[in-house]
Amino acid sequence: VRNQWIRRLAGGTGLLAAAWLAVAATGSSAQDKLPQDIVRGTVEKDIAYLQKELAKMPEKRAVPTLKTTAMLIALYAQDHQKFDLRDQALKVAEALSKKDFAGAKQAADGLAKPAGSGKAEEIQLHEMYDFDLAELMSAYRNATVGGLNIEKDIRTQAKGVTDVKLVGDQAVRTVLIGRYTHKFPTDKATANQANMKKWEGYTNDTLKLAREIAEEAAKGDQADKAGLGKRLKSLDASCTACHNEFRDI
Ligand code: HEC
Repeated sequence: VRNQWIRRLAGGTGLLAAAWLAVAATGSSAQDKLPQDIVRGTVEKDIAYLQKELAKMPEKRAVPTLKTTAMLIALYAQDHQKFDLRDQALKVAEALSKKDFAGAKQAADGLAKPAGSGKAEEIQLHEMYDFDLAELMSAYRNATVGGLNIEKDIRTQAKGVTDVKLVGDQAVRTVLIGRYTHKFPTDKATANQANMKKWEGYTNDTLKLAREIAEEAAKGDQADKAGLGKRLKSLDASCTACHNEFRDI
């Protein structure tokens, strides 16, 4: 995908290339960053999840989700300048990308007391360790098939919110996943500017709704459950809109 992208950018007219870059850039701005107090609890759960799942030999179908979880922790950590935590999360992702499960376990245990490389600068996380869209999206799958159950929880809670905390956690993960989704347009999305705009549009819709849900759910008992339910329905629709256009089944 990346090569094609570069080829098209290089081959297109300057004007076209510039317009594409402007579109692509909208996804990567700091406006998507969630406040630390909203994200932290979710990340703590995700760290515990990695440690628990890697304490044993992980199921094969769970491995992409485990790697994605490490990449979500790395993104949160980079957002909030916790570079030691970011680097430690990247060690988990790297070990998983090599199917080094003993190394991944050790790195995950280290998330409790991360030892970074000391490099306090931002890096392009989506370029690390062959991370890709299929791995990213796998985290949305049901827990019964090695996912984080996000899609199912969105759909169940959309019918009537019974667990505000769960809704908040799944929305936070969806925001982090959405930030990476911007970086992984499919070949069809990069084929022309109109498609690229659609990709960006669906991703932005998903991000905006998930962000609003995360912020509302953070109010806990004070959260507007009916409003959350409505937004969860819209969120589900925004996922489906992109799938109808870009996911071949
Ligand atoms: C911008 C487009 C886009 C958005 C937005 C999007 N997806 Fe996807 N999704 C895809 C594509 C493309 C695939 C197929 C990826 C592949 O297999 O390479 C996919 C795959 C999936 C899969 C299957 C993963 C697997 O391993 O079988 C699930 C589940 C999923 N998406 C859930 C969601 C949910 C839930 C949302 C919204 C919260 C969402 N997606 C938002 C494009 C999108």
